[in-house]
Amino acid sequence: MTDASTRTVQLATDFIGKGDPLGWFEELYATANGDPTTVPWARLTPHPLFVEWLNQHSLVGKTAIVIGCGLGDDAEELAKRGMEVTAFDISETAIAWCKKRFPDSSVNYQVADLFQLALGKFDFVLESYTIQAMPPELRAQAIPKIAELVAESGQLLVICLGREPEQPLATVPFPLTKIELSGFTQAGLHEVKFEDLNEPETVRRWRVQYQG
Ligand SMILES: C[S@@+](CC[C@H](N)C(=O)[O-])C[C@H]1O[C@@H](n2cnc3c(N)ncnc32)[C@H](O)[C@@H]1O
Repeated sequence: MTDASTRTVQLATDFIGKGDPLGWFEELYATANGDPTTVPWARLTPHPLFVEWLNQHSLVGKTAIVIGCGLGDDAEELAKRGMEVTAFDISETAIAWCKKRFPDSSVNYQVADLFQLALGKFDFVLESYTIQAMPPELRAQAIPKIAELVAESGQLLVICLGREPEQPLATVPFPLTKIELSGFTQAGLHEVKFEDLNEPETVRRWRVQYQG
C-alpha cells in the first residue's frame, strides 16, 4: 500500500467508526494541501476505461453530470467532447481545486451531496468509483439517487471495482457485488452492457452501461 492509500484507509475507517461516513472526503482533500499525490484516486487525467468507452460513443451536444467528480478530469474530458457538463462533489476543497486547475472550463462545478441533490435530469450520467467509497448500507441509498438523474432514454455509465458476495469486505474501497448493482435496474434503468475487465486479474473492474 502507498502512503496515500494507508492515510486514506485510516481516515475513512476513523470517520466511518464515528458514524460520519462521508466526512473523510473533505478532510482528505483539505489536508492534501494541494498535493494530488496524497489523493489515491487523483490520476490528473481522465480514467482510461472511460476514455475508451467515450471513443466508441458520441455524446456531442448532450447534457452530462459527473457524480463525485474529484479533481475534475473526467468532467473536463466530457466538456472537451462537446457536452454541456455539470460536475459535483461533496468536498468544497475538491471543487475549489477543480476551479483552480481549470480556470477557463465550461464545466458547471458545484459543491453538492448526492443525498441532497436537486439538479434535474441529464442525458448522460457518469458514476466512477464514488459509490464504492461508501459503506454498503449507504450505497444502497446512493444507487436510486443516481438512477433518478438519468433522463428518459438517457445513459448511465458505472465504472467500479467488483467482487463476489462471498468475498469479505475489509476497508475502503468496498468493491460492489452484482446484487448491489441490480439496484440500478430495480430503480427503473435497463442494463445495456456489462463488461468485466480484469486489470490486473486479481482486481475485478466493471464497466456497466444503463439506459433510462
Ligand atoms: C473515490 S473518489 C472518486 C473520484 C472520481 N470520481 C474519480 O474517479 O477519480 C470519490 C469522490 O466522491 C466524492 N463523494 C463521496 N460521497 C459523495 C456524496 N455523497 N456526494 C457527492 N460527492 C461525494 C468524494 O469527495 C470523492 O471526490
